[in-house]
Amino acid sequence: MTVSLYDRLGGYDALATFATMVVGTAQTDELLGRFWANRNEDTNARDLQSLIDYLVRETGGQMYYKGRDMAMAHKGMGITDADWTRFIEIVVNVAGQLGVGPDEGGEVMGFLDTLKADIVGA
Ligand code: HEM
Repeated sequence: MTVSLYDRLGGYDALATFATMVVGTAQTDELLGRFWANRNEDTNARDLQSLIDYLVRETGGQMYYKGRDMAMAHKGMGITDADWTRFIEIVVNVAGQLGVGPDEGGEVMGFLDTLKADIVGA
């Protein structure tokens, strides 16, 4: 039986911790912080939960994602290649801190790569 990426990453709590750390770092990052300027706490909390729901669904967990698709969610933000590179650095750092193994880390990277065209320059 194949075990889902969701289960291999450690399930809901592991993904929630991962998303919280990535978003928290991005929000205070010198380059990326501008995307979250002037947004209120409740909006940020809602978006974080939306990201968690999305990641759970995409990795094979049980979740009904109510948000927009990635092109729609990021359209008009002007996310550049440099922003993307920084975002990936943050993901790699957080995955390292959380002890994500090389196989799962590789799968997460492969998944993110499939989203890049929808998010960068959208
Ligand atoms: C440089 C990279 C990224 C930046 C700067 C960024 C920024 C943002 C911002 C500011 C929002 C809030 C949009 C709004 O509500 O108006 C958002 C929403 C969202 N982002 Fe990203 N994002 C990036 C990459 C990603 C990636 C790689 C994923 C998926 C793994 C993702 C998933 C989401 C989701 C699920 C939402 C919420 C959509 C919804 O609820 O409708 N983002 N992003």
